Amino acid sequence: MNIGIIGCGYVGMVTGVCLAELGHTVTAVDNDPEKLAMLQNLQCPIYEPGLEQLFNTYVREKRLTFSGSIAQAVRDSQIIFICVNTPSNPDGSADLSFVESVAKEIAVNLREYRLIVEKSTVPVQTGEWVRRTISRNAPPNVEFDVASNPEFLREGTAIDDFLHPDRVVIGADSRRASSLLTELYAPLNAPILLTDINSAELIKHSANAFLALKISFINSVAQICSRSGADIKKVAKGIGLDRRIGSNAMEAGIGYGGMCLPKDVAAYIRIAKELGYDFEILKAVQNVNNKQRLWPLEILKHRFSSLQGLTIAIWGLSFKPNTDDLRYAPSLEITAALLKEKVKVRCFDPVAMKKAALQIPEAKMCPNAYEACYKADALIICTEWPEFKTLDLHKVAENMKLPVIIDGRNILEPSRMAAHGFEYFSVGRQ
Ligand SMILES: NC(=O)c1ccc[n+]([C@@H]2O[C@H](COP(=O)([O-])OP(=O)(O)OC[C@H]3O[C@@H](n4cnc5c(N)ncnc54)[C@H](O)[C@@H]3O)[C@@H](O)[C@H]2O)c1
Repeated sequence: MNIGIIGCGYVGMVTGVCLAELGHTVTAVDNDPEKLAMLQNLQCPIYEPGLEQLFNTYVREKRLTFSGSIAQAVRDSQIIFICVNTPSNPDGSADLSFVESVAKEIAVNLREYRLIVEKSTVPVQTGEWVRRTISRNAPPNVEFDVASNPEFLREGTAIDDFLHPDRVVIGADSRRASSLLTELYAPLNAPILLTDINSAELIKHSANAFLALKISFINSVAQICSRSGADIKKVAKGIGLDRRIGSNAMEAGIGYGGMCLPKDVAAYIRIAKELGYDFEILKAVQNVNNKQRLWPLEILKHRFSSLQGLTIAIWGLSFKPNTDDLRYAPSLEITAALLKEKVKVRCFDPVAMKKAALQIPEAKMCPNAYEACYKADALIICTEWPEFKTLDLHKVAENMKLPVIIDGRNILEPSRMAAHGFEYFSVGRQ
């Protein structure tokens, strides 16, 4: 099938290359001139394991092409996926202006039947609004459908998640739309859940909200562990082995970040309010997370009488490992707070430093994890990059001024840290 993708971000790029991998022909559109220039020069604009290889293959085979023209994608594609960003407004609601502008541009270019699919995460009832927007702007009598096909990929494992999903959710109000999407995804051999559009939209927000809830729950339990002498790793394992609960999203740490959970929880609280419901649980989830993100600063303030003039090393800048995505990364908030206290900050991240240098230019980006620790009074681990688990602790200690480690992701072992003479702080462990 011929597919149009509007928005070449994390979701659009992964969707584009994976649909090419499934045998479809994809035209991907973006309106960011810098990104488009990179794409047209055959450079992949984001880091995601396995993405570049598929990108190179399908660009070479001309099964994946890039354009700045929505008109071209509408002309050439049976199905058009809207994959643009839906950031938070200051009041927490989803900013749908990018979706609206794309819907209008698709509409004015419609000449014959097209299926327009929301893949961006949007509030319930957005599909109806997109349909009205397109109807108002499309030429008279042209046929189209709107469907919802929320995306559940996780950055860092996005290709695998897309190609081997737990389920594909298709929200459609016409048989033509659901048949087209069922045919599109048939090569995945994945369970397909057919629903109405409102339910599909709500599945996505509810899934993200539930994951955020699990994370804030386990972080709250970690607080009780610290105060009672229990060990959060053991407690989480014991809870997670219960099949009704499961072990995913049960790792205590400095909370969730990224472009999805924070904004989707905020948007869900807002949608609920508009529908006349006070979603109190989600407000608590948000509060717990906001506090948890700054836990390393609490420890630092407790450990040092004043932060001014200290040198602090940060390992890990991206909001999670295996991505260069810095959106809502706890590291940025922590670094900004440290810089405000006149602390010197030395950072290392395996892939996100180029992007981070633009956002926190006052922080020093170091060539490796050991260099970041040079003469540091303390080290904060913000991201659980696997390579941080196997570094030479002797060398780390030698480089630091004081052997103080604040492990925001519980990736190191307290007994090993003690054996190396570190003063080691972790979340919910003694
Ligand atoms: N990133 C994730 O892990 C993830 C997972 C599931 C769902 N989602 C949802 O998918 C959506 C996209 O997320 P993302 O992380 O890919 O965002 P992103 O910011 O990385 O990408 C969005 C892209 O859309 C482009 N764009 C905006 N307006 C455009 C227009 N008018 N024409 C053409 N291109 C336009 C931007 O230039 C950008 O490249 C969001 O709603 C997000 O919540 C994201």
